[in-house]
Amino acid sequence: MVDNYLYQFIFIHFLFLLSLFFVLLTVSLSSQQPLCLEDEKSALLQFKDGFIIDCSASFDPSAYPKVASWALKEGSNDCCSWDGVECNEDKGHVIGLDLSSSCLCGSINSTSGLFRLLHLQRLNFADNDFYGSQIPFGVGNLSRLTYLNLSDSFFSGQMPKSLANLSSLATLDLQYSLLHGEVPAEIFFLPNLQFLSVAYNENLIGHLPEFHSNSSLKVLTLRDTRFYGKLPASIGKLISLYFLDFRKCLFSGSIPPSLSNLTQLTDLDLSENNLTGHIPSSLLTSMTQLIYLDLSFNKLVGVLEFDMFLKMKSLSALILSSNNLTLLTKANSNDTLPQFHTLGPLRKFIWTFTEVSRFLT
Ligand SMILES: *[C@@H]1O[C@H](CO)[C@@H](O)[C@H](O)[C@H]1NC(C)=O
Ligand SMILES: *[C@@H]1O[C@H](CO)[C@@H](O)[C@H](O)[C@H]1NC(C)=O
Ligand SMILES: *[C@@H]1O[C@H](CO)[C@@H](O)[C@H](O)[C@H]1NC(C)=O
Ligand SMILES: *[C@@H]1O[C@H](CO)[C@@H](O)[C@H](O)[C@H]1NC(C)=O
Ligand SMILES: *[C@@H]1O[C@H](CO)[C@@H](O)[C@H](O)[C@H]1NC(C)=O
Ligand SMILES: *[C@@H]1O[C@H](CO)[C@@H](O)[C@H](O)[C@H]1NC(C)=O
Ligand SMILES: *[C@@H]1O[C@H](CO)[C@@H](O)[C@H](O)[C@H]1NC(C)=O
Ligand SMILES: *[C@@H]1O[C@H](CO)[C@@H](O)[C@H](O)[C@H]1NC(C)=O
Ligand SMILES: *[C@@H]1O[C@H](CO)[C@@H](O)[C@H](O)[C@H]1NC(C)=O
Repeated sequence: MVDNYLYQFIFIHFLFLLSLFFVLLTVSLSSQQPLCLEDEKSALLQFKDGFIIDCSASFDPSAYPKVASWALKEGSNDCCSWDGVECNEDKGHVIGLDLSSSCLCGSINSTSGLFRLLHLQRLNFADNDFYGSQIPFGVGNLSRLTYLNLSDSFFSGQMPKSLANLSSLATLDLQYSLLHGEVPAEIFFLPNLQFLSVAYNENLIGHLPEFHSNSSLKVLTLRDTRFYGKLPASIGKLISLYFLDFRKCLFSGSIPPSLSNLTQLTDLDLSENNLTGHIPSSLLTSMTQLIYLDLSFNKLVGVLEFDMFLKMKSLSALILSSNNLTLLTKANSNDTLPQFHTLGPLRKFIWTFTEVSRFLT
């Protein structure tokens, strides 16, 4: 009797374990990625062969040579499992290469295996050393790219016009390079571009085009470049922008009132340019989301009422120094000042206000 129960008990447990085994087996089979395709594998290996590994090429202290694991040996035959390589799950095509901070030294020419990876969507070469070589023209053939990050990698020369062929591109990060020459205006019109940075390329020249209201730009950073000319009124059409950084460029003329159309802006930095005229009052009343506002080191003139800034409830940094601005405030508003984390050298303005308010009363 007791034995019978015992056998039943063991049998039921056996069934249970058996079904568990099959469940696990199906799960593991269905999540297994297909092996990578032979031609893409050889393209990756050929790409790798164009480089030498030297970890002084990357600034990031946690950099390591991701391509070191790329080899044809037992257990690592599936290139989809190689470090920095991403494949799509159904077809096994290589769709992503993240070789940021990978100690790569070398350059890419038109014979590189890279240009056989035609399914690439995401490419990150940030923080390596491309020896001051050009961004290869053939990058325009990788037409499925949505993300291209070549920042901080010692790319030099002109930006290739073929970048304008990348109509799926949403992110283009070329900051901290050695680029020079003129930025092709077509870049601004890439229909899906949301993030554009060519910042910290101090020899890169450019001017802003006439923008269209169908732009998707959310982040635009031209900081520390030689972009020049006026800020076009059409900048007010970039209504998706929330981050605009033109610090240390060569822009001149006045701030267009249409800028106040950009009501989503949280960060606006136009400091260290050559901007003249008044700050449009509509700017301060409509940009209610602003967290950071820096207009310092220009040639702006006029009288501003401090109360206007108090209406910008999110504002935590306000830097207006080194212009010719006078800030007006009510005599008793001293205690409202500390809500700002950064006032810049605003003392001068507070002093100015004291003079003016005394004059007013
Ligand atoms: C392209 O680069 C590879 C690897 O660096 C090199 O072997 C080859 O000679 C180069 N080809 C040309 C045309 O420069
Ligand atoms: C580009 O890559 C670098 C290094 O990985 C990273 O810090 C940076 O945020 C990336 N840029 C964008 C826009 O993702
Ligand atoms: C890019 O595509 C063009 C036209 O299909 C082709 O002639 C050229 O060789 C390609 N460039 C590279 C680098 O693959
Ligand atoms: C870019 O597109 C133009 C036509 O739209 C084509 O002639 C050219 O070959 C393309 N360049 C690359 C590098 O894909
Ligand atoms: C955006 O608008 C401009 C001007 O109306 C037009 O030339 C361009 O083709 C449009 N772009 C897209 C992606 O619709
Ligand atoms: C302001 O934004 C609207 C869309 O909200 C756009 O139609 C209009 O052209 C913009 N005005 C200016 C002056 O850019
Ligand atoms: C700034 O503008 C003035 C004229 O308003 C011009 O003389 C000067 O060269 C400009 N400076 C720069 C750095 O563009
Ligand atoms: C500052 O602007 C006022 C007018 O708002 C003008 O009278 C004055 O000369 C300007 N000072 C300098 C140093 O430009
Ligand atoms: C505001 O602060 C200044 C300098 O600290 C001081 O001289 C002035 O009396 C203060 N005003 C009020 C109304 O507290």
